[in-house]
Amino acid sequence: MMPSRVRLLSAALLLLAACQRPSASRSALGGGVPPRQAPVFPGGWRFAPGTPAAFGEKFMIASNERRASDAGNEIIRAGGNAVDAAVAVGFALAVTYPVAGNIGGGGFMVIRMADGRNAAIDYREVAPLAAHRDMYLDAQGNPTNESIIGYRASGVPGAVAGMAEALSKYGTMTLSQVMQPAIKLARDGFTVDSALYGSLASSKEYLARFDARDVFYTNGAPLTIGSTFKQPALARTLEYIAQQGPKAFYEGIVGDSMVAAMTRGGGIITTADLKAYKPEWRTPIRASYRGYTLFSMPPASSGGITVTETLNMLETWPTLPAWGTPEYAHILGSAYQRAFIDRNSKLADPAFVKVPIEQLTSKSYAQALAKTIDPAKKTPTPKDGSQIVDGMHTTHYSVVDDKGNAVATTTTLNNGYGSAVYLKNVGFFMNDEMDDFATAPGKPNMFGLVQYEANAIAPGKRMLSAMSPTIVLDPRGELLLVVGAAGGPRIITATSQVILNVIDHRMNLSDAMRAPRLHHQALPDTLMVETGGLTKEAEDGLRRIGHGIRYMGGLANVNAVMRVKGGWEGVSEPRVGGTGGTSAR
Ligand code: DON
Repeated sequence: MMPSRVRLLSAALLLLAACQRPSASRSALGGGVPPRQAPVFPGGWRFAPGTPAAFGEKFMIASNERRASDAGNEIIRAGGNAVDAAVAVGFALAVTYPVAGNIGGGGFMVIRMADGRNAAIDYREVAPLAAHRDMYLDAQGNPTNESIIGYRASGVPGAVAGMAEALSKYGTMTLSQVMQPAIKLARDGFTVDSALYGSLASSKEYLARFDARDVFYTNGAPLTIGSTFKQPALARTLEYIAQQGPKAFYEGIVGDSMVAAMTRGGGIITTADLKAYKPEWRTPIRASYRGYTLFSMPPASSGGITVTETLNMLETWPTLPAWGTPEYAHILGSAYQRAFIDRNSKLADPAFVKVPIEQLTSKSYAQALAKTIDPAKKTPTPKDGSQIVDGMHTTHYSVVDDKGNAVATTTTLNNGYGSAVYLKNVGFFMNDEMDDFATAPGKPNMFGLVQYEANAIAPGKRMLSAMSPTIVLDPRGELLLVVGAAGGPRIITATSQVILNVIDHRMNLSDAMRAPRLHHQALPDTLMVETGGLTKEAEDGLRRIGHGIRYMGGLANVNAVMRVKGGWEGVSEPRVGGTGGTSAR
């Protein structure tokens, strides 16, 4: 007999299904990709479906900052490929988007060349050689905030070495060529807009205790909107790197400045740490989902495995419930919950921990897990954790060039403006990536993530990431979607929901990006939903089967590019400023 809870849920489902009125197709995508359908968002949701996306006939770049995307545009117009452009965007973001763009942090890049080659490069920071498991615990064994703010919070930066390595293998231009747009933006300056002003205004207190206060603020006030912001120290650093290669960052004046600042401020990064840093080429996680193929990031990021594990569970439903229904939210949230239980306990730097990649990404394992999802009842996560904090920063950019090569890159300082430590002489912020380790295994980090021994601190180890740069091919093997996000653990859930919105719910890219998102990360054992993102019926249906629901302002920050008839659409995260970050031809 059907339990009453299921009956109620089904009634809500029928009600909602009646509201879903798919419209005619927007575009024929070919490649076995079905036509698009217009979604119905909950009444009062802040974005309307049907908003146009940026379009480019030949190529498209979507990032969080238009001038950085324009840097990539300039490089493709000059004959560069997507990798050349991505590296140009990466360095430009370090200039125009200092909250997350960086040379003092690290990231991950997934590459798909038009000739069929694919690759993934891991340029995640590593723990300094003097790091140790309990370095952020006080006398009582409680975590301090030293893994988040100040000189001790930084891992050894990987961005410069990683981008240079990606360029040397898959690019066609020299480092100096692709860095010119960034150097110009730093040297000649760029106009401060309301986005940069707003970011600095909200980070004033965070940045007040270190040298950034003298560069990004005047008498305590953020850079004025409309003024030209020049960064001569950063321009010099970028010029050294352009002329001498990554060595100029890890050694010489820049490396010495980093180490001197660390020594003065009580940090632990040494010359030996900088010399030892190496990016790692990895085999991308290759997943299949309903005939589509995904290439995504393996450890030291958890992104690829966790997205794959989730999609594999969802694939066991021949058709997923309609978007917006409580049944869909329940299945999706429960799949995330299960994938995050594995993520939080089993994933870590593969040089230190044996990660069961094959098992976690296998269809049979997902089938067994999916069977534990009870349609009538939410299952609890074993222990409870704490809350997620909003307002962190990372940045993802997606690039497709005019030859069909694609790059998905996510890079971060971790927190907005990293550890808040700004190296004035050399012009950049240092990361606070050490907090991505389980600094106190079993206790929540700043994202409320509860992780365990596998991800404990050890010298030379990479801290586990959630960054999920992903490239999706359609059933005929043609490039369809380049996607990824910022947002800590919400990176995984937001990235995969854009993919699901495109594949299962047949939304166009603009709608797929604007659809309300939800998130579950096992602990805290709560379904997080964007405010206004559920109908009353859906909320009631979910609560009835046991979900705790927590509303949040905005979940994650995605930048994506998708193939459409005759070209490419690009959408920069609408939650933080619309299509301002795309650049195309
Ligand atoms: O690597 C990670 O998973 C985190 N350091 C990412 C941090 C982040 O996305 C902050 N957000 N917006």
